Amino acid sequence: GEKVLFFGDFGIDDIFALLYAFYSVEIDVIGIVADYGNVAKHDAVRNARYLDEICKEASIPIIGGAEMPLTGRKPKFYPKIHGLGGLGPINMPKTPVSNVENIYEIIPLIEKYGEQLTIVSVGRLTSLAAAFIFFPSLMKTIKQFYIMGGAFNFPGNVTPVAEANIYGDPFAANVVFTYASAKINIFPLNVTQKATIPPQIMDYLGIAFEENGKEAVNMLKLMYDFYSQAYKKMIPSMIGGAPFHDLLVMWAVEKPENVKFKEVPVKVITTSGAGYGQTIGDFRKRVDTVDYPIHRVASDFNYASYINSFVETFMTGI
Ligand code: BDR
Ligand code: CA
Repeated sequence: GEKVLFFGDFGIDDIFALLYAFYSVEIDVIGIVADYGNVAKHDAVRNARYLDEICKEASIPIIGGAEMPLTGRKPKFYPKIHGLGGLGPINMPKTPVSNVENIYEIIPLIEKYGEQLTIVSVGRLTSLAAAFIFFPSLMKTIKQFYIMGGAFNFPGNVTPVAEANIYGDPFAANVVFTYASAKINIFPLNVTQKATIPPQIMDYLGIAFEENGKEAVNMLKLMYDFYSQAYKKMIPSMIGGAPFHDLLVMWAVEKPENVKFKEVPVKVITTSGAGYGQTIGDFRKRVDTVDYPIHRVASDFNYASYINSFVETFMTGI
């Protein structure tokens, strides 16, 4: 399967993405980096370890990522959407997690898999930016990057113009977008917001879930309900269920042929003010004005295929 090193901030949609990767026969997770973002770093690490354990994936290394952004600002967490510790209503023990300063463990993984390696990043880009700063030539060997972040010609979710993963550390986003140029596939909010999982689909899976009775199953249902209700409260006009942004990105690694991309010059706004954290895509198609790095920005995807894959993969996996 496709070798994936997964960077996530282990809130609910990150966890759906990771479980999808575990259950998919076409994706082979070779490592997990747990970063601050939706929750604090120690919560993210603890959640990732919990998932490894209940899914019997103990051989996949869990690596502690960044604890704070390059901006010098204090990170802001999102308990209303992801729950206090990132698992919705499930409360994990608040005991401190040990051995989380092991980011150097990504080096042998990248050395081993480089040219076949896909990096999937669905949180703040701080750890990945640091990797580019310290190991630029090693990072150049990586095959491709799949990134959830940004919003193009569409409102943001943290501010009117900025999306959470970019807003959380726009400096880091700038580093990654500049140095990984030509290998990045960006999945912005205007696309991921269409990646809803309707409640009927969860009910349908629920029947299989009940017969199965594994711990992961019960957890999925609790997290799904929490996340859906949080979205409903936040955006009352939203219909068809909550968007599972990060899940869409993992599905796309498996089914890139079912995604439409545009090659677009992209810039991140890092100056303070109302535009802070905004991603600007130059969609004008003019050759004379382009001085930003060019990336593949997803513009649409096959929704039926996304839902089919979700049902199939979770049905067979759990
Ligand atoms: C992104 O921010 C987080 O809340 C989600 O996990 C997703 O990665 C959406 O803006
Ligand atoms: Ca995320």
